[in-house]
Amino acid sequence: MTDRAEHRRALQEERHADLVARLTRLLAPLSGDERVLDVGCGTGALAYALAPLVGEVVGVDASEEYLALAREHAPPGCTFVLGDAAALPFPYGDFDLVGCLRVLHHVRRPELVVAEMARVTRPGGRLLVVDQLGDVDPMRSLELDRFERARDASHTRLLPDADIRGYLDANDLVVSANEIVTERRDRERYLDVAGLEGEARERVARMAPAVFEVEMGWYVARKP
Ligand SMILES: C[S@@+](CC[C@H](N)C(=O)[O-])C[C@H]1O[C@@H](n2cnc3c(N)ncnc32)[C@H](O)[C@@H]1O
Repeated sequence: MTDRAEHRRALQEERHADLVARLTRLLAPLSGDERVLDVGCGTGALAYALAPLVGEVVGVDASEEYLALAREHAPPGCTFVLGDAAALPFPYGDFDLVGCLRVLHHVRRPELVVAEMARVTRPGGRLLVVDQLGDVDPMRSLELDRFERARDASHTRLLPDADIRGYLDANDLVVSANEIVTERRDRERYLDVAGLEGEARERVARMAPAVFEVEMGWYVARKP
């Protein structure tokens, strides 16, 4: 396993208990037999957290490397498949719950991803969207994006709260729960997880304070 993958796994394990607790609260009531899709599953953070709470979880991601890591320690009831979040390889209404965690800011067309998530959710089912938020001040948002892109070239754009709500609304999805949570980040840890070293790391480190805060938006929405 690469250092980067190890850092990701360690962070995923550290965040696991908090993630389970928040999901249990935000998604209550769950029947326990839901079929769930984790879009942009990466190494499986959301899938692993939901697996004990539901019937089965399918994770889909564009990276074979991350999928292999996700499969390595997958809890019972989880499967992982290759696919594009903007053209999901599943039929209409195939899932009771469809979620994505920290994915929308990595895709060029987030509106297509939300539309695809809505398509594969059954009528009466729910979507969960979780992502770091952009700032309402567009100049501050550009600055945040510059830092995030320098850290990880696959970063595209942090969406402000209003954009995420707009994409949900455009698909007739009705928000039933929403939380905006401030997260503290240790810069050096954050650069470790990105696998940054040497001169590139020093350059990116100059773009952020040693400890900084970001806002995470959590949205649960129902498909009528
Ligand atoms: C920041 S990671 C988040 C991974 C995981 N959800 C988590 O929270 O740990 C973003 C993930 O989105 C995936 N991704 C980006 N664009 C994608 C696309 N078009 N289709 C599927 N997965 C995509 C990446 O491969 C990566 O695993």
